[in-house]
Amino acid sequence: MTAPSLDVSGLAYAYPDGHQALFGVNLTIGRGERVALLGPNGAGKTTLVLHLNGILTAGAGTVTVAGLPVGRQHMAEIRRKVGIVFQDPDDQLFMPTVREDVAFGPAAAGLRGAALDAVVERALDRVGMAAYADRPPHHLSFGQRRRVAVATVLATEPEILVLDEPSSNLDPASRRELADVLRSLDVTVLMVTHDLPYALELCPRSLVLSEGVIAADGPTREILADEELMARHRLELPFGFVPGSVA
Ligand SMILES: Nc1ncnc2c1ncn2[C@@H]1O[C@H](COP(=O)(O)OP(=O)(O)O)[C@@H](O)[C@H]1O
Ligand SMILES: [Mg+2]
Repeated sequence: MTAPSLDVSGLAYAYPDGHQALFGVNLTIGRGERVALLGPNGAGKTTLVLHLNGILTAGAGTVTVAGLPVGRQHMAEIRRKVGIVFQDPDDQLFMPTVREDVAFGPAAAGLRGAALDAVVERALDRVGMAAYADRPPHHLSFGQRRRVAVATVLATEPEILVLDEPSSNLDPASRRELADVLRSLDVTVLMVTHDLPYALELCPRSLVLSEGVIAADGPTREILADEELMARHRLELPFGFVPGSVA
């Protein structure tokens, strides 16, 4: 039996000003699953994500990544295992070329020379950006920068890829290209999103986080079709979108 990619148990957290954001979150994500994390503004989604690689540390409860507890002891390894793609790619890309940005993580982990080149090549290939290796990131479109940000994280071979609002600010073609990339990856994915059709398209399972606890956990199609549940947690489908009608 291999350990799940992510296990969160009894996670509670209050910010230093005393505002409590998480009230005992429990969830488990198995190897290779793609799971959407849904919830209204202020539900605690970002607070939860920041606990997954130890940017915030639990007031109570535990976070375990592939059997390894998130805590001070294993921080470098945890940061490699949990690949977080932030909402704004410009927070993640800061080197003169795409190649250097993607090489940054594996180089910090000690990779050099031909082995490093091969890892960079493969990561860019997985997101369809191999032809852009020598370009400065700021010359790329927003959608291309987001895919490069995904590559910087894939380059460290993470146990779990965590994306915060991956489809925000993307035009329809870029949104679809990113979906194609995410579907093609053989990695565990946790995707925070307000884009419910995107969740349905990409994630067989969804979690609803509401007022700092997991309020629902089930097949995405069933969650989106539960009008009472959706209304209770301020989740709204786009006008005319009928989840049951999507193949
Ligand atoms: N740095 C902070 N200090 C105090 N309260 C915060 C801080 N960041 C977020 N919060 C509060 O914690 C709650 C959860 O926030 P957040 O995790 O950002 O929610 P979400 O990402 O689901 O919109 C909100 O009520 C928010 O106002
Ligand atoms: Mg947020």
